Amino acid sequence: MAKLVGGIATSHIPAIGLAITQGLEQDAYWKPFFDGYPPVRAWLDHVKPDVAIVIYNDHGLNFFLDKMPTFAIGAAAQYQNADEGWGLKQLDPFPGDPAFSWHLIEQLVAADFDLTTCQEMLVDHGFTVPMSLLWQDVVPRPVRVVPLAINTVQHPLPSPRRCYHLGQALGRAIAAYPEDCRVVVIGTGGLSHQLDGERAGLINREFDLRCLKDIVHHPEQLLDLSIHDLVEQAGSQGTEFILWLVMRGALSGQPVHEITRNYHIPISNTGAGLLLLESSS
Ligand code: DHB
Ligand code: FE
Repeated sequence: MAKLVGGIATSHIPAIGLAITQGLEQDAYWKPFFDGYPPVRAWLDHVKPDVAIVIYNDHGLNFFLDKMPTFAIGAAAQYQNADEGWGLKQLDPFPGDPAFSWHLIEQLVAADFDLTTCQEMLVDHGFTVPMSLLWQDVVPRPVRVVPLAINTVQHPLPSPRRCYHLGQALGRAIAAYPEDCRVVVIGTGGLSHQLDGERAGLINREFDLRCLKDIVHHPEQLLDLSIHDLVEQAGSQGTEFILWLVMRGALSGQPVHEITRNYHIPISNTGAGLLLLESSS
């Protein structure tokens, strides 16, 4: 049977990808951020997941304002990086797991989540930067991936509660997979940031720290937040926090143990957050 071994949430700021390429991890600006990751990599080395379900937001690469699925899931044999900008280097493709993808699709549609199924899917920094942070850009890649893209771009966005429920259905779908494999769920993006408009540059440390705390022990306390509340508190791109809530929902059926967290501001325009939760059962 498949086993959900834990969940990771991490920011996906494109500048991180450039800093990795340029070897700036020990640079004074970057060190407090990158210092958060060795415990997560050590945990991954130890538990050795076979598959990573990566919950991210497409920033205009596959889907643009003209056609925007609320939930879209990959069912491809591989996923090519084709970030739309930011000067990120090309990466080798990420191997998929079509059989597992189709199992998840069957289960999630049966649970009333109407997904757009993508047998071809490009991935952008929302997906690739966390992969580079958690695993190096090595070939062969150590995990197969299933990308799950959630709309955080074209309003209306799915609510925090809806995303948490999607995560719960995802957790049940993982547990129902008959193949032996170890699965990690990764939520990317956040925490507070706003890239444009009058409030460009907004970072809300207090709100970010509340989210980091509550998502571990009281995620249900975050579910009454509306998307409007998230925009107000965390900035227009801070809505990416709904991706963290999908990850947390997936783990909600079992006790969790926090292995590590980190928070550092600013990285580029963003309050950069990191969290690793292990399933205790
Ligand atoms: C930044 C953050 C993001 O989440 C993103 O998608 C693009 C840029 C930033 O802070 O620069
Ligand atoms: Fe983003």
